[in-house]
Amino acid sequence: MSYKEQYAEASNNPTAFWKAQADKIKWIKKPNTILSTNSDGNYQWFEDGELNTSYLALDYHIEQGNGDNTALIYDSPVTQTKATFTYNELKTEVAKFAHVLQSKNVSKGDRVLIYMPMIPQAAIAMLACARIGAIHSVVFGGFSAHELAIRIDDAQPKVIVSASCGVEIQKVIPYKPMIDQAITLASYKPSSCIIYQRDIVKASLQEGRDFDWLKLCSSAEEAQPVPVNATDPLYILYTSGTTGKPKGVVRDNGSHAVAMNYSMSAIYGINKGEVFWAASDVGWVVGHSYIVYAPLIAGCTTVLFEGKPVHTPDAGTFWRVCAEYNVKALFSAPTAFRAICKEDPEATLIKKYDLSNLERLYLAGERLDPATYQWLKDKTDLPVIDHWWQTETGWAIASIPYGIEQMETKAGSAGLATPGYNIKVLDSSGNEVEKGEEGNIAIKLPLPPGCLATIWQNDARFKEGYLNTFSGYYVTGDGGFIDEDDYLFIMGRTDDIINVAGHRMSTGEMEEVISDHYSVAECAVIGGHCPIKGQTPSALVVMKNNIELEPDELIKELKLSIREKIGAIASLKEVHIVDRLPKTRSGKILRKTIRQIVDGQSYQIPSTIDDPVVLDELQKLLGAA
Ligand code: COA
Ligand code: AMP
Repeated sequence: MSYKEQYAEASNNPTAFWKAQADKIKWIKKPNTILSTNSDGNYQWFEDGELNTSYLALDYHIEQGNGDNTALIYDSPVTQTKATFTYNELKTEVAKFAHVLQSKNVSKGDRVLIYMPMIPQAAIAMLACARIGAIHSVVFGGFSAHELAIRIDDAQPKVIVSASCGVEIQKVIPYKPMIDQAITLASYKPSSCIIYQRDIVKASLQEGRDFDWLKLCSSAEEAQPVPVNATDPLYILYTSGTTGKPKGVVRDNGSHAVAMNYSMSAIYGINKGEVFWAASDVGWVVGHSYIVYAPLIAGCTTVLFEGKPVHTPDAGTFWRVCAEYNVKALFSAPTAFRAICKEDPEATLIKKYDLSNLERLYLAGERLDPATYQWLKDKTDLPVIDHWWQTETGWAIASIPYGIEQMETKAGSAGLATPGYNIKVLDSSGNEVEKGEEGNIAIKLPLPPGCLATIWQNDARFKEGYLNTFSGYYVTGDGGFIDEDDYLFIMGRTDDIINVAGHRMSTGEMEEVISDHYSVAECAVIGGHCPIKGQTPSALVVMKNNIELEPDELIKELKLSIREKIGAIASLKEVHIVDRLPKTRSGKILRKTIRQIVDGQSYQIPSTIDDPVVLDELQKLLGAA
């Protein structure tokens, strides 16, 4: 079927389309009901199906005679380590760790929080949870103890799985003190912590609560896959919303497995036995979907890379990994390639490597700016495919579905709607706009398999945040337009979320942290343009009257508190102390205008502004800054 035919079939007859996709995976009990609604009134897929995601990712391939194929390659330039795991080996590790979790009383439906660096044990822990029907919640290593504590309280994990440290280029980051602090901060107390001790730093373990991963595994048996319902949650992944409380996106087992399997062939065109590399982190949705689940469910080889695009040791490291492991498709974020381009603008390091197996590049996480698109295209001579998705959807909403049809890419566009996603651009009243006109991007319900089922323990927030804005639609929070050829252009968020080095951050959450400071009357955090990271957060702060604190001291304290409360990845670039903030007459802060001033762009004075003089003051201050 052509792309157009697949798209039409998925839109007009979703039940038949997704039944055919569901037939491609091995179920313990095949679903009879393909699409239905649950007791909360939300759509659900394959409600009466039974399966096990870890079985699909591991045992199934072994049963097909592919146990000696390489499942996972670990490449860690920061620790000078390389390792490979066949499907047989990975299954043994996973099954043993699943048994370890069972020995700590973890069973179906229990939560396990995973706070790990990019080591194979992160993927092993995720798959071990899936094996016994436990729900994992992976937290990115760059988040602070405070953020961890918020997630502990929300997910209430029986067990925390972690490692003694992470390695950031030259810097070693001990994880265990962060976990200890998070458990102290949290109201909910997990009963056990299982720590993988790395040679570089050994964590001290608290008797009775903390356990050594390797010691537990040395006496473990192999746990068998536990059947779960298709609609049982596989994982919770927290992502930034517009407030300080992150949202726990819930992904189920059945529809996720079907979507992952479909996407590997339809979008990435990757077959069993081929090597796929998503250069991301297991703490993000890209890591969940395309480092761990999709490549393994599809019987491919996945690469788990512990390093950075630059300085590990140089800007050729991506090309080295692609050449060394015969990577067929590489997926990363535009920020990574901007960092590479800055270090090696002529791409001389590419020439050192044989990239004859590398067929295409995929980018997501933020808009692929036309300059980076062109640079990559020119320097690699490969198709450069921008595709658009969110933690919520778990896989690409728009893409060039290369496995279906090798269509042209367009600079600045995230491609065409992926089969299953009925994308509409709506005005603020919910009416569809003309082609070429910008508006709110929404997806007509039902969402295809693989997308979020709800928000953990908060279905009201799911409905409020995504479904209630435009009746019958999921609202993405992104704005953009569709052109005459049906290509989608994502122009940015319509809410207070920013994207820093491919990491999603909430300016609202940063404002809450800043406002907590005793001397702050009010503040606004905006994402200013950054040539490498896309955006970086800066704050405008109004101090309370009669506070005896030097502005420089306040700036230092605010920068520190953002790092401590959210994490190093959220570091504030600039903090400006101002007399007042530009607002509308109804008291809304004019963030877009502030952003334009910070970025040195021209701006129009909004007709709703309370007092235009504030903008002049701001312009003078930031111009002089
Ligand atoms: N654990 C602990 N700390 C982490 C971390 C982790 N997993 N990841 C990042 N940090 C820390 C860094 O050490 C740094 O700390 P510092 O300010 O004390 O030096 C801070 O967070 C900012 O890190 P980062 O955003 O990675 O910036 P950088 O300047 O070190 O590197 C890039 C810049 C562009 C090379 C890097 O951001 C990058 O590789 N981005 C790609 C991200 C990506 O793939 N996203 C895909 C999501 S789909
Ligand atoms: P996350 O949930 O962290 O994956 O972030 C999702 C958000 O990142 C989206 O809502 C977009 O704002 C942005 N994003 C992701 N991919 C793209 C892309 N290809 N083009 C433009 N924006 C993107």
